[in-house]
Amino acid sequence: MWIGLLLVVFLAFGVPKLSEPIKPIPQKIDYDKKKALLGKKLFHDPILSKDGTVSCSSCHDVYNKCGTDHRNVSVGVSGRKGNVNAPTVFNVVFNFRQFWNGRAKDLKEQALGPIHNPIEMGMTKEEVERRLNADPEYRRLFKEVYGTDRITFDQVIDAIVEFEKALITPNSKFDRFLRGEVQLSKEELEGYKLFKKLGCVTCHNGINVGGNSFQLFGAVVPVEWKPSNPDRYRITGREFDKNRYKVPSLRNVACTYPYFHDGSAKTLEEAVRKMSYHNLGFKLTEEEVKKIVAFLKTLTGELPEILREKE
Ligand code: HEC
Ligand code: HEC
Repeated sequence: MWIGLLLVVFLAFGVPKLSEPIKPIPQKIDYDKKKALLGKKLFHDPILSKDGTVSCSSCHDVYNKCGTDHRNVSVGVSGRKGNVNAPTVFNVVFNFRQFWNGRAKDLKEQALGPIHNPIEMGMTKEEVERRLNADPEYRRLFKEVYGTDRITFDQVIDAIVEFEKALITPNSKFDRFLRGEVQLSKEELEGYKLFKKLGCVTCHNGINVGGNSFQLFGAVVPVEWKPSNPDRYRITGREFDKNRYKVPSLRNVACTYPYFHDGSAKTLEEAVRKMSYHNLGFKLTEEEVKKIVAFLKTLTGELPEILREKE
């Protein structure tokens, strides 16, 4: 009976695709919900910025912009412009390093970046502690979660990181296809096949369809290097690392525009054309671009569960 049912399912949708280079996002992830809900509040609170105008969510809008700000480059405290495009905070827990050049080894180290960055939030550890401890509501909440009377900066970071861990977007059409639950349309499937055949998958693979290696932008047809690039060279100073970045995740890529470290590609079509030309040496036909974009659109997942929870 069960075998029969399984067979029917497999015939309709295909067997789970276990040996594909892209892996589904797990449907559940372990995190401490109390901490994460506190982190969610902090993430959205401009109290963490010097002039009280900027919160993490100003640049990473998790409700309406898939964890990005849809700007070419971000704008921080006092309206100061950075020089880098804000990547999404969705699924960051699956990245091997954080930031375009991977300078933070994990989410904890990463979160210190924007809070202290004079252009982003411009705060010191002491000022964060002073402000939160002066707020009775936060004192109550931290006491509930951490059991201490005085709020520490470490606890603040810990709560934010726990929230970020919860920001996973499972059950995209593509993941359901990988699990053998649905089929892709002809165009989407052909797009996926091209993505593999052309070699996109050599850099964009794994759970995040990226986020797991450093690679060149311009691997085949080089692009101009600029000293302002937020690339690996900034950290290592090696020629080899000029124009080398952490490969961005392509999860939810249909709604994380504009693209590239400088936001220079406005549309997904443009990003795909440039990638194919500079990183693989192919000039794609419009038909091929359409197919690949159709496939990339299947990588849009569900809104993280934590965003539907009340604080
Ligand atoms: C002023 C805009 C701005 C604010 C505020 C901001 N970020 Fe970011 N965030 C960025 C930009 C720009 C980058 C990319 C910087 C780089 O790679 O050099 C980034 C990168 C990240 C990354 C790395 C993602 C990846 O794939 O590498 C995470 C995680 C993140 N931010 C979380 C946060 C958290 C948590 C806060 C609040 C404490 C925050 N951000 C506040 C703009 C901002
Ligand atoms: C040699 C490794 C490599 C290959 C091959 C490659 N990419 Fe990329 N991809 C990258 C890197 C590195 C970036 C970041 C470039 C930057 O921002 O300067 C990137 C960025 C992207 C982006 C923009 C994502 C964002 O959020 O900004 C898209 C879309 C993309 N690639 C799709 C593709 C497609 C489609 C192919 C195949 C035609 C492909 N890539 C092949 C390494 C690669």
